[in-house]
Amino acid sequence: MDGRGFVGRTRQLADLDRALVDAASGRGELVLLIGEPGIGKTRLAAEVARRAHERCVAVVWATCPESGAPAFWPWTQVLRSVFDPASTTASPAASLGLAAALLDPTGPPSAGDDPELARFLLFDAVETALRGPARAQPRLVVLDDL
Ligand SMILES: Nc1ncnc2c1ncn2[C@@H]1O[C@H](COP(=O)(O)OP(=O)(O)OP(=O)(O)O)[C@@H](O)[C@H]1O
Ligand SMILES: [Mg+2]
Repeated sequence: MDGRGFVGRTRQLADLDRALVDAASGRGELVLLIGEPGIGKTRLAAEVARRAHERCVAVVWATCPESGAPAFWPWTQVLRSVFDPASTTASPAASLGLAAALLDPTGPPSAGDDPELARFLLFDAVETALRGPARAQPRLVVLDDL
């Protein structure tokens, strides 16, 4: 996609461009695109992804199917994209720690005795796993259709 055919959204694009510049200089942030069905959230995210590519920011695009996907599926896609499970040069399990559970075909770990603690540790593990590669190359992670 080359940006042709994209119209409007000047203010949102200015905000998102600034967020991209910040991310490229090491200050990441979370941006939510909220709006009615069909209003243009995915199209705007695609335009931001195109601009990210131009700025040498890597793009990871994960989608949320309406049904049938396991828990945390978008994050599984993100981890798969960043840590190629087929790679022979790095052990995903070693570099991912607990977050490797999301790449396990049998699914994320069971809740154990303390589900809240298990969730906390899993979220922390994913953040920690992604922080390292993001230092080497800034990334735009798009989670479409939350
Ligand atoms: N700024 C824009 N310029 C040109 N076309 C647009 C723009 N925004 C949306 N569209 C077009 O409008 C249609 C709906 O947009 P899009 O799929 O992005 O909506 P959405 O908000 O993601 O919808 P949903 O909530 O169903 O996921 C698409 O064909 C898209 O290409
Ligand atoms: Mg959409």
